[in-house]
Amino acid sequence: MQSKISVISAALLFATTAVAQETADAVAPEAATSNQAVAYSQAAQDALDKKAAGQPVTADNWMVAAANPLAVEAGARVLREGGSAADAMVAVQAVLGLVEPQSSGLGGGAFLVWYDAESGEITTLDGRETAPLTATPQMFQDENGEPMGFFDAVVGGLSVGTPGTPALMEEAHRRWGRSNWGSLFDEAITHADDGFATSARLAELVANDAERLATSPQTAAYFLPDGEPIAEGTTLINKPYAATLRALATDGADAFYKGRIAENTVATVRNATTPGALSTVDLALYRVVERDPVCVEYREHDVCGMGPPSSGALTVGQILGLLRGSDLATLGPDNAETWRLIGDASRLAFADRGRYMADSDYVPMPTEGLVADDYLSERATMLETDAALETVEPGSPEWDHAMLWADDQAIELPSTSHISIVDSDGNALSMTTTIENGFGSRLMTPDGFLLNNELTDFSFRTHSDGYPIANRIEPGKRPRSSMSPTIVMQDGKPVLVIGSPGGSRIIGYVAQAIIAHLDWGMDVQQAVAMPHLVNRFGKYDLEAETTAADFETTLTEMGFEVGVRDLNSGLHAIAIGETLEGAADPRREGIALGE
Ligand code: GLY
Repeated sequence: MQSKISVISAALLFATTAVAQETADAVAPEAATSNQAVAYSQAAQDALDKKAAGQPVTADNWMVAAANPLAVEAGARVLREGGSAADAMVAVQAVLGLVEPQSSGLGGGAFLVWYDAESGEITTLDGRETAPLTATPQMFQDENGEPMGFFDAVVGGLSVGTPGTPALMEEAHRRWGRSNWGSLFDEAITHADDGFATSARLAELVANDAERLATSPQTAAYFLPDGEPIAEGTTLINKPYAATLRALATDGADAFYKGRIAENTVATVRNATTPGALSTVDLALYRVVERDPVCVEYREHDVCGMGPPSSGALTVGQILGLLRGSDLATLGPDNAETWRLIGDASRLAFADRGRYMADSDYVPMPTEGLVADDYLSERATMLETDAALETVEPGSPEWDHAMLWADDQAIELPSTSHISIVDSDGNALSMTTTIENGFGSRLMTPDGFLLNNELTDFSFRTHSDGYPIANRIEPGKRPRSSMSPTIVMQDGKPVLVIGSPGGSRIIGYVAQAIIAHLDWGMDVQQAVAMPHLVNRFGKYDLEAETTAADFETTLTEMGFEVGVRDLNSGLHAIAIGETLEGAADPRREGIALGE
């Protein structure tokens, strides 16, 4: 029988020319993985068993949840030894870049939300990639000014933005770390040197992306030795990655942004069959930016996350803000009316996202106006009906000056990974990390890591109907993201740390899980596992082979355009109460571990 992932791969191969959103919708995210063929530690196996039984992992002191057991174990070691959540994140990210290379790594970018137990403050750090200084707004257009085929732009050097993840790891450690920096790479270096067993998920994704991975010799040599995709269980050794981590451990992020590794990165981008513009100057100039957190009140909680250039917190916040007046708790998750309300709140929020959201360092954004109480309550009156909204247009949030934008046309295909951590001091960290598409640009540097294709998160078109598009490419700009690392606060204390991969569906996954936990009283494992119903641009996606699909007829009768499909979130969450409860998405390989 043809596997689910093979079908997805076939869809990918046929989706190389069109750039319409419908094309993006047709291409499935990273596929679900439920089987675990690799042997892990007893603690990790126990955590996998809990996940399979639909139960959260509980702990008193600390908790870490992420997408791969080896990465979670590295973070757990750091936390057990008294390290902070920021220290543990460095260890988790270093291992994820090795064992889940398709999703995140040194060659990518990330957003981090931090709750500081001592000060009670939330801080958000932007480690998003930047467009090279010589990038042009038309760089993803052909000679006729038409957008390139999506994967023509993705595969190769053109799509590579200046990576931010190594700088973010260092900045988080500089601010909040207390472990020896160099020690945080120990597990990753050991696994890279001695080899790790290729997981079922990695093997399957490599097999299904073999054609694109083969386009770069360095990438092919690693993932397709002798021309064949690495098989599940194969020991994969990555000595160059170990050497890179040793350099980072000794010299900090400078080892990545200057000197030999930086030169190798630039050469990889420039020598690709589709060369890109990244330069050593871009790398040397890269900076993490602290941004104001975006917090939106919902059910006597503050839902806090990452502002622009992410659309995550604003769009999650708009969805929740539009639903404040709806009694979802009484309606419950089995009621089609609940999903009418959530579906249309999401459509309204995505309409504003497409019109207004981009890197606010480059374009004026009505950031506060988009989540202002009066704006959301007025817009929520549109939900006072009993059928799907016939038309959904962007609103007119309060703004200190006028600017007309056209709707964004970026395509976002999901890869990405999410890390949630609480340490024994009560600090909380929520970080979503990505190289964008599965395996990013498909370019692996001689230093053992894949480079992102984050620049394809920009709009390929610069204008529509004569109006500029806010998320167009500009030199040094950061592409708009959907990543939604979130910390939910109550009475000034964190009660939920959550986030997910999933491209622009991240927003719906996170919003739904928050509603499930706060309105329906689900524990975190139930909240991340519950079947998804996600609405972004109009089509209502219902998760195939789950009870979500039972709403197909009713939602169609209400006037929604409905599709049933795989919806492969990768939610990782920690609820903080008397104890800590950790959860990992059953659709992927991750676990939560705590003590
Ligand atoms: N590349 C995924 C995101 O930033 O939303």
